[in-house]
Amino acid sequence: MKLNKIVIAIDGYSACGKSTTAKEVAKILGYRYIDSGAMYRAVTLYFLDHHVALTNPKEVDRALQQINISFKVNTKKVTETFLNGLSVEQEIRQMRVSEQVSPVSTIKAVREAMVAQQRKLGKDKGIVMDGRDIGTVVFPQAELKLFMTADMLVRAFRRQREWLEQDRLIDLDDVIENIKKRDLIDTTRAESPLRQADDAVVIDTTHITIDEQVDQVIRMAISRMLGSSKG
Ligand code: CDP
Repeated sequence: MKLNKIVIAIDGYSACGKSTTAKEVAKILGYRYIDSGAMYRAVTLYFLDHHVALTNPKEVDRALQQINISFKVNTKKVTETFLNGLSVEQEIRQMRVSEQVSPVSTIKAVREAMVAQQRKLGKDKGIVMDGRDIGTVVFPQAELKLFMTADMLVRAFRRQREWLEQDRLIDLDDVIENIKKRDLIDTTRAESPLRQADDAVVIDTTHITIDEQVDQVIRMAISRMLGSSKG
């Protein structure tokens, strides 16, 4: 039995469990996992640290030329995001980055640079990538597209718990406000807004466990791997 290598694109709102699902699915299939949101977060961190004016296209272009983003799997088998050779995995999850990442992600030049890199990473398939425009813009030919949603409160609790695991207590209202703001910017921006691809399968994660989410995706992935004639 031959299993074809496929591309799995997972899009959806903030904190719906995309990354957790994508990571686990990639591990089970032996695929590469790419967190496209981490790339936009790394750009945002660089812009903040270098006081790049978002409204100045020249400054933005110059900064983008200085930015090199890569991913490495560490000794605990966890993928870390690197910005110009330094791990920024913890820093990019901070609230100061979360507050600025959606405005930065509206900038056309930023998106073009990231999408070009994401397509290179996926050129040999065997990849799971999560984000906002993966099934619509980055890999419109992806063999499996998923669109994840969940109730706002469930999403906020999950995100708050992730912060708690790092010993940081963020007020639930602040978490909700950040998620709502980002969803609004992400869905209404002119450049590749977050939207469900016509051929995406919707997964509502409100009432299901991570294991159930992963099982559903694996089942769909295997059927695409058996049936896919592409690539
Ligand atoms: O994990 P979380 O849901 O908080 O978001 P993320 O995946 O880390 O993405 C952070 C932000 O980056 C999003 O709110 C979007 O503004 C932006 N993003 C994007 O524009 N396009 C992508 N493919 C991925 C993320």
